[in-house]
Amino acid sequence: MNIAIIGTGYVGLVSGVCFATQGHKITCVDIDTQKIQQINSGISPIYEKGLESLLKKHKNQIHATTSYDEAIQQSDITFICVGTPSKKNGEIDLTYIDQATKEIARCIRDKKRWHAVIVKSTVVPGTTRDIILPLLEEETGCTAGKDFGVGMNPEFLKEGVAIQDFLNPDRIVNGYYDDRTQQLLKELYKGFTCPLIETSVTTAEMIKYASNCYLATKISFMNEIGNFCKHLGIDAYDVAEGMGTDKRIGRAFLNSGIGWGGSCFPKDTQALRAWAHKENQSASIIDSTIHTNDTQPLKAITLLKKHFPTLNGKTIGILGLAFKPDTDDIRDSRSLVIIKELLKEKADIKTYDPKAMPHVKNIYPNITYCNTAEEVLDSEAVIIATLWDEFNSLSYQGKTVIDGRRIQKAQQEATIYEGVCW
Ligand code: UGA
Repeated sequence: MNIAIIGTGYVGLVSGVCFATQGHKITCVDIDTQKIQQINSGISPIYEKGLESLLKKHKNQIHATTSYDEAIQQSDITFICVGTPSKKNGEIDLTYIDQATKEIARCIRDKKRWHAVIVKSTVVPGTTRDIILPLLEEETGCTAGKDFGVGMNPEFLKEGVAIQDFLNPDRIVNGYYDDRTQQLLKELYKGFTCPLIETSVTTAEMIKYASNCYLATKISFMNEIGNFCKHLGIDAYDVAEGMGTDKRIGRAFLNSGIGWGGSCFPKDTQALRAWAHKENQSASIIDSTIHTNDTQPLKAITLLKKHFPTLNGKTIGILGLAFKPDTDDIRDSRSLVIIKELLKEKADIKTYDPKAMPHVKNIYPNITYCNTAEEVLDSEAVIIATLWDEFNSLSYQGKTVIDGRRIQKAQQEATIYEGVCW
């Protein structure tokens, strides 16, 4: 199939490259000319394990351009993969969706052949049916379902393992407005053996939000239980093992600590809550999920102050800045919350992260960035904030460690050791 992908951010580029591995021909569209040049030279503008090598391998099937016309005229199906950031009040910001939809409409208006428009960006339930579809009809003067197709196909990609998640998914969700789009999406994913859920576009949107909000809630719930465990002097990971063996619960996403960050859980929980409030719906569970996550990183500071009541002038090390290992992404990273608190307390901060330091330097240029994790250990106390594998092999002998992610070697070796939930 010939596929146009609008937006070459994380979701767009990973999807485009993975569709290419299935034999499809991809045209990526972006307004950023630097990104276009990079993609056309086989360079990935973002860091994601395995992405660049696949991009190089399938170079002949992937072309990037700034022209919507070029991409849409020669394709059968267009995926909208632009960003849907949060507004200040937590609501979803549809500016990029609106711009992309209008551009796509302009192109399909001039196109002779039938074309399907599929939303892959995460949008709150109702957006495709009540905003994108009417906008496409208005701008084209055509009828959805008759003159062009509409679908919603959410992604379930975890940063760091996105290629693996795309190529070996747990499920594929195809939301469709019209039968022809249903058949097209089915054909597109015919090489996959996982369960296929075919549903309405609004149900597909809700599946995406409900999945992310549920996973965030699962972690927040475990963090609350973890706080009880700490109070009782027991280990939340032993409790997680005991719970996780129940097939109805499952062990995944029961790792307690200093909470969740990243580009999805914080944005999606806030967007669904804001949508619920606007619709006069109660969102008390999502409210509590967010509240627990906001306060969880502060537990590390409380434990630190148990040993250093005044942090003024103390050198505190932070191991890890990325929101999780194997990425350079710092969006809503719990480390940033910890840095902010420590600076309020006038502590001197030393930090190290294998990938994310350049991004944090832009926000906090005046803290000390170390070349190695060992240098950070030369502090009065160290907070472990990201579960990078290399932190598992450091020597913690004689150190004071506040562990937000549970590094067993630190637990065994440190002179003073405090786990957040264990
Ligand atoms: C998340 C979802 O897992 C994906 O399925 C989804 O497609 C994606 O959002 C998205 O909407 O695009 P991601 O944000 O890449 O993926 O990261 P996760 O691996 O889910 O981790 C999120 C946060 O939860 C991290 O800060 C991680 O440290 C934390 N976490 C995860 C825990 O604190 N405990 C756990 O047990 C698991």
